[in-house]
Amino acid sequence: MYVAAIDQGTTSTRCLVVDHGGRVVAGHQLEHRQILPRAGWVEHDATEIWENTREVCAGALARADLKPHDIAAVGITNQRETTLVWDRTTGQPIHPAIVWQDTRTEAICRRLGEDGGPDRYRERTGLPLATYFAGPKIAWILDHVDGARQRAEAGELAFGTMDSWLVWNMTGGPDGGLHVTDVTNASRTLLMDLRTLAWDEEIAADLGVPLAMLPQIRSSSEVYGTVREGGVLAGVPIAGILGDQHAATFGQVCFEPGMAKNTYGTGNFVLLNTGTEPVVSEHGLLTTVCYRIGDEPAVYALEGSVAVTGSLVQWLRDNLGLIASAEEIEPLARTVDDNGGAYVVPAFSGLFAPHWRSDARGAIVGLTRFVDRGHLARAALEAAAFQSQEVIEAMAADSGVQLSELKVDGGMVANELLMQFQADLLGVDVVRPVVAETTALGAAYAAGLAVGFWDSAAELVANWAEDKRWTPQMPDDERQRLLGQWAKAVQRTLDWET
Ligand code: G3P
Repeated sequence: MYVAAIDQGTTSTRCLVVDHGGRVVAGHQLEHRQILPRAGWVEHDATEIWENTREVCAGALARADLKPHDIAAVGITNQRETTLVWDRTTGQPIHPAIVWQDTRTEAICRRLGEDGGPDRYRERTGLPLATYFAGPKIAWILDHVDGARQRAEAGELAFGTMDSWLVWNMTGGPDGGLHVTDVTNASRTLLMDLRTLAWDEEIAADLGVPLAMLPQIRSSSEVYGTVREGGVLAGVPIAGILGDQHAATFGQVCFEPGMAKNTYGTGNFVLLNTGTEPVVSEHGLLTTVCYRIGDEPAVYALEGSVAVTGSLVQWLRDNLGLIASAEEIEPLARTVDDNGGAYVVPAFSGLFAPHWRSDARGAIVGLTRFVDRGHLARAALEAAAFQSQEVIEAMAADSGVQLSELKVDGGMVANELLMQFQADLLGVDVVRPVVAETTALGAAYAAGLAVGFWDSAAELVANWAEDKRWTPQMPDDERQRLLGQWAKAVQRTLDWET
């Protein structure tokens, strides 16, 4: 038997089939369109994503030469915060999904912050008022689609992040589809109380979001339902749901307080397990639910979210034509010894943690005629490491825990130059596991635990194995000089959009 994991990410959707040893035996992946109607707006076509999901599931099963009855359970993990509202009767979205990177809700966030400031809901939700989160995106859709708020109040419309949308469709859609989400995804809406793990009626009312449209909040690991007959994974129990960063933390088996991972994807996301009590950040981090297994107490995390890292490499490829493929970035960066004095601060969606400045816009600074393509490639890679360093420093300040090492995963960890630079900037070892597909693995683990495919977390810990370790080599004065330059570069991006 095997477990399947669906990873519905920002740029693509994948289905991986995982065996008992935590090895990936087959997979299939499809990209979807990034719809950019105007500066700062990012949308996805949720119907395209649902069609891709079915195709990748069928493709992964075919490649593994398996049938649905060979799959003990399926877990779902997803890009978080991306917001969809659909009609419960027709099953059709009433507006394209508004992606987490989208900044159109800036005015809504500012207005809500007039009473109590940007940290108005931080104590209850763990989050600042920022365009990143789902609640204000729901409000925007209800404000802009004719009659939507009344229809939502009447129970005709459903809100969901991508996990809810997929589960609803997989379990029957308009014909009895389940409308659920898990605690980790719900903790990214600005609408969930971190301690009660229930929707906060007062905040929902402040945002003008009717409770009738919200999904039921469940744990991250339990049997929610089974895939409908006629579906690609017909009859398979859906038994795990985790936001993708929480899934990566789970896949990296960060089950003990003090354990952390950094995922290098479209953006970078560092999560530090802080145990069963939420730690409210005083240094610009988020407090989030890390995971909840069945009826066990929820485990919390501090999170440092960086909006743009890997997507900066894509931007250099697609918008500037500096490279033809993402893989070219490392050899190009290796043509030079250092960044030549150049710094790229990719504040494309404003700056997320630890700054939370939606008025920031990207900048390339430190330019002289000496700077060439290689320096820019290097500065782009370094931006991922500098931004990660900022959030990890904030984490140490919030938690009092100094990391002894950092587990890493995601597409960019293939990049040795970046990994060495990250270790140098942090002054701690950076460690990459053999199975770098930790996001999908985490969703598979959550689903497999719920159906007894794995008996305990200890079994999962035994599956984790180290592939490579980078040890700091940079002298401290050089490290301090670079961090000082980076801080100056960040200052240059602020107060741009006022
Ligand atoms: O919060 C956004 C995050 O979940 C997106 O992750 O890997 O899809 O870029 P990814």
